[in-house]
Amino acid sequence: MTEQDFILKTYNSTIESGSVKWASPSNIALVKYWGKKKHQIPENPSISFTLSDCKTITEITYTKKQEKGFSFDIYFEGEKSEAFKPKIQTFFERIEIYMPFLKDYHFKIETSNTFPHSSGIASSASGMSAIALCLMSIEQELKADVISTERSMSDEKSHFNQKASFLARLGSGSACRSIEGELVVWGKNESIAESSDLYGVKFEGDVHSNFNKYQDTILLVDKGEKQVSSTVGHQLMYGHPFAKERFDQAHVNLAKLKAILASGDLNEFIKIVESEALTLHAMMMTSMPYFILMKPNTLEIINKIWAFREKTDSKVCFTLDAGANVHVLYPESEKENVLEFIKDELVSFCQNGHYICDQIGQGANQIQF
Ligand code: PMV
Repeated sequence: MTEQDFILKTYNSTIESGSVKWASPSNIALVKYWGKKKHQIPENPSISFTLSDCKTITEITYTKKQEKGFSFDIYFEGEKSEAFKPKIQTFFERIEIYMPFLKDYHFKIETSNTFPHSSGIASSASGMSAIALCLMSIEQELKADVISTERSMSDEKSHFNQKASFLARLGSGSACRSIEGELVVWGKNESIAESSDLYGVKFEGDVHSNFNKYQDTILLVDKGEKQVSSTVGHQLMYGHPFAKERFDQAHVNLAKLKAILASGDLNEFIKIVESEALTLHAMMMTSMPYFILMKPNTLEIINKIWAFREKTDSKVCFTLDAGANVHVLYPESEKENVLEFIKDELVSFCQNGHYICDQIGQGANQIQF
């Protein structure tokens, strides 16, 4: 697949209007993406668990218009929002070549999240993937009469997911891993034949039953705006003294994780996942300028998790995003014990005692009217 394969060539521009709606989840990386080339091409491969309940729900209503040019309005949780407009404008500019109909219609974009607005949970993955999926459904409606002559139904579905992921990537890199479940790989890696830098692919390797319904409880340590955005953080990997070693390490860790997912060895799983989280933050701390996104309570939680593992037989572990919040990962069989541990020992480190219980999920789904 190349970029050229995603350019829509024929579509029916006589369709006047329509509405589509998708719910798309967030995801949490196990091997982290940090550093990118032009056009959101990752410097290294990554793999993530798709989440189940942390989702963005987006409806797009499209109406034919006469004058050419981008035209759209965004409503966030019922209120008209100007704040998201520049991001969507840039997104439309980036993807216009692949979706030439974007200038033929006015788009009313209505969006909301299932998780609290200012939770510090990045909504760009779920938000951008939800918009990409809506635009793909519109594309499908506009080319309804040409589909059957081009591809079989199953090829069409895989093209739909690939292109949705491809577009989502151009909105926000990690968003390309939110289309499908339960594990998604993004970035070319030798150990995963179908992997691509252009879009995320469902991980098709063996996955041991230890990972069934794997739990992710997100501890909201700091709900505020991050001091350094991901965009800036990625850029700081240019000329970073440890960049090459880090990018190589991600390839090795992904190959190791593939074997661990098959064997179900949770001790080895913990080593890779926690090391990846700390490496991500180590890259931040050793870039120039350097910065720290963890908070004292992030470290308190990490130490409590290590102490709990030391004194019990638990396989609970942590991972981090580009922020202070902690994702606590554990097998479903430990749900009761770990939740008790979280309530007894970790909640006090969360802002206003807030945390969100989620688990590994199946990917985005279309909402029919
Ligand atoms: O998708 P972005 O550009 O917001 O980057 C996110 C990067 C991390 O969340 C830190 C890691 C990852 O792979 O999701």
